[in-house]
Amino acid sequence: MNKITKENFKKTLSTFATGITVVATNNDYVLYGKTINSFSSLSLSPPLVLFSLDNKSSKLNIFRKSNSVSINILNKKQKLISDNFARKNPDWSKVEYYIFKNGNPIIKNCVSNLNCKIIDRIKKGDHIIFICKVTHVLINNKLQPLIYYNSKYS
Ligand SMILES: Cc1cc2nc3c(=O)[nH]c(=O)nc-3n(C[C@H](O)[C@H](O)[C@H](O)COP(=O)(O)O)c2cc1C
Repeated sequence: MNKITKENFKKTLSTFATGITVVATNNDYVLYGKTINSFSSLSLSPPLVLFSLDNKSSKLNIFRKSNSVSINILNKKQKLISDNFARKNPDWSKVEYYIFKNGNPIIKNCVSNLNCKIIDRIKKGDHIIFICKVTHVLINNKLQPLIYYNSKYS
């Protein structure tokens, strides 16, 4: 075992393959979305998931004020959507979506979509963990997920 450094810690985390999600919300009729791979399941009963946001994110206050988010799990043909929402100012006009009854945008043709109520926010290290109760889901069994591994789409 090697003693932990910033470099080998990041490299070690990159060996864990993840899916990619876009976490999105609606604040005063303005839509916000961010590419996130810190999404994880947390509890089956009640149905809870979590994701974490960098303290330095320019949209941190928007998500901190939000009561709900949609979590859109991308399919393997949606790399451009992942790239779009990894930018500071993503372009919603490039994305097919509809608005759910609570105002959150739901991206079309995802492997699955979750609509969630944010029930807790926990500051840890340089991130904030958002704990979310899932209220609605949509699954598209025919699509395969976009995978992120070794800092690349795979
Ligand atoms: C594959 C991938 C996964 C990411 N996962 C996260 C994440 O879990 N949490 C986070 O805060 N940022 C994550 N980001 C970075 C954000 O998408 C990006 O920094 C952000 O949208 C830039 O704008 P901001 O400064 O307005 O937040 C990820 C980026 C990529 C490409």
